[in-house]
Amino acid sequence: MAFRVGVLISGEGSNLQALLDTVHGRDGVEIACVASSRAGARGLERAADAGVETAVFAKAGHTDRDARDAALGNWLDDRRVDLVVLAGFMEILGGPFIRRFEGRLINVHPSLLPAFPGVRAIEQALDYGVKVSGVTVHFVDEGVDTGPVVLQEAFALPYARAVEEVEAMTHEIEHRLLPRAVRAIAAGRVRRDPSNPRVVRVDEPA
Ligand code: GRF
Repeated sequence: MAFRVGVLISGEGSNLQALLDTVHGRDGVEIACVASSRAGARGLERAADAGVETAVFAKAGHTDRDARDAALGNWLDDRRVDLVVLAGFMEILGGPFIRRFEGRLINVHPSLLPAFPGVRAIEQALDYGVKVSGVTVHFVDEGVDTGPVVLQEAFALPYARAVEEVEAMTHEIEHRLLPRAVRAIAAGRVRRDPSNPRVVRVDEPA
């Protein structure tokens, strides 16, 4: 039985593309479906090009956010996903959705959490003047980018750079780190420490 991954996007979908290129159809892992919060997102085309089923769950199409989240959750459950990946999903998901997928919902964030959670993380880091930045893949809990860290990777920012340049450096890491996290979870190599569930152990192959 394949390990089935649902990916949620809002825009470009370059992280989705990395998953399609390096994880999909390998080692028993399948990108089973892709949902966007926005019609016309470029990521929807990327999914369609790879033959992956897509749908749009815009808040405007539902009575409120909880109704949208419930419909999205039902759609993912109907597709029997084992893991839900937020890959540039730019909307807040409500508590009921997060509890429903607890432990099988991850996000990729363009900073070294807990520094610079929320939107415009790269701009926040540059404004602060940090000398090191990075990427975090974490389980999603009900806070804003506060869930247990699965993987992190840092890079040096020896002097102030243009946002676009740092975005490119960040993306390059994201496109490796997120697939690595998904592969590890799919292979059962990711465990929470029972004595401290914030601590996530990832066994990487030698
Ligand atoms: C990424 O930088 C990710 O960290 C953030 O949103 C961006 C999405 O980019 N959460 P893309 O849509 O995958 O190209």
